[in-house]
Amino acid sequence: MGKRSKRQNSIEFMKENRRLFSCPICNNEMDVHDDGEVFCSNRHNFTIAKQGYVNFLTKPVRSMYTKNLFESRKVVIDSGLFNEMHKQVATIIGNSVKTILDTGCGEGSHLARICEQLNDEVVGVGVDIAKEGIITAAKYYDRKIWCVGDLADSPFREQSFDVILNILSPANYGEFKRLLKQGGKLIKVVPQSEYLMELRKQVFANSKKELYSNEQTVVRFHEQFMNVSQQRITYKVPIEKELIPKLIEMTPLGWHAETHDISLEELTIDLDILVGEV
Ligand SMILES: C[S@@+](CC[C@H](N)C(=O)[O-])C[C@H]1O[C@@H](n2cnc3c(N)ncnc32)[C@H](O)[C@@H]1O
Ligand SMILES: [Zn+2]
Repeated sequence: MGKRSKRQNSIEFMKENRRLFSCPICNNEMDVHDDGEVFCSNRHNFTIAKQGYVNFLTKPVRSMYTKNLFESRKVVIDSGLFNEMHKQVATIIGNSVKTILDTGCGEGSHLARICEQLNDEVVGVGVDIAKEGIITAAKYYDRKIWCVGDLADSPFREQSFDVILNILSPANYGEFKRLLKQGGKLIKVVPQSEYLMELRKQVFANSKKELYSNEQTVVRFHEQFMNVSQQRITYKVPIEKELIPKLIEMTPLGWHAETHDISLEELTIDLDILVGEV
């Protein structure tokens, strides 16, 4: 038998997990057909692309996040910069969860690396409004469900997920509460004041952008969720010279810096991991 295509594998995996989906137009349950059509009883349908992802957006959205940006983010994440965060998040998740949704998953590396540390059966789903991010995710990571969609109005059924991840991305707490199972957890990762400090100091020298506070995010999180915990993880990672252009390219804020003006030997990762329950 020949090797099955990426699309065929995605069709199979989405069929197995069809109960996770609801129609983004009418909220009805969805089914997945052998030909790769994902459809509801009102005949709204979405097609699994040859790259193995589904686009659930009902109108086109322009994103400032480009293919280049996502490829650079992948190189940076592959370099190990976020390994400690992945380890910590995997420990918080534990080994008994069945379904995880990463909201604003970008190119998918955080979800893939976190799932690697969990049980083999866990079903990881990533959603992002930027098609280029999801195409990159589908290219590198199999046996995940990759969806282009709006995290504020998502194509998933209520109470479907044990864990929602929201890493360095915007949130919609109303929607997250709808999607989480009873007792499910939201894990939100936000930058702390020293995050990428060495880089920001050089790019934003003498500017207010250099300062960062997540105070309001933390207050809102406490208002919305129960049993909230907050862990700060701070560590430094040595940086190879070749990584500097990728670090510059990985943000849409356009850190308009010339790579040769930047000198970095190490970089600080400083993040808060907020955990709350519904
Ligand atoms: C700073 S990036 C972080 C991406 C990834 N979590 C990471 O840390 O590499 C923010 C991401 O949020 C996504 N995003 C912004 N608004 C969104 C929305 N309404 N629905 C889904 N994704 C969204 C962007 O497309 C982008 O990929
Ligand atoms: Zn429908």
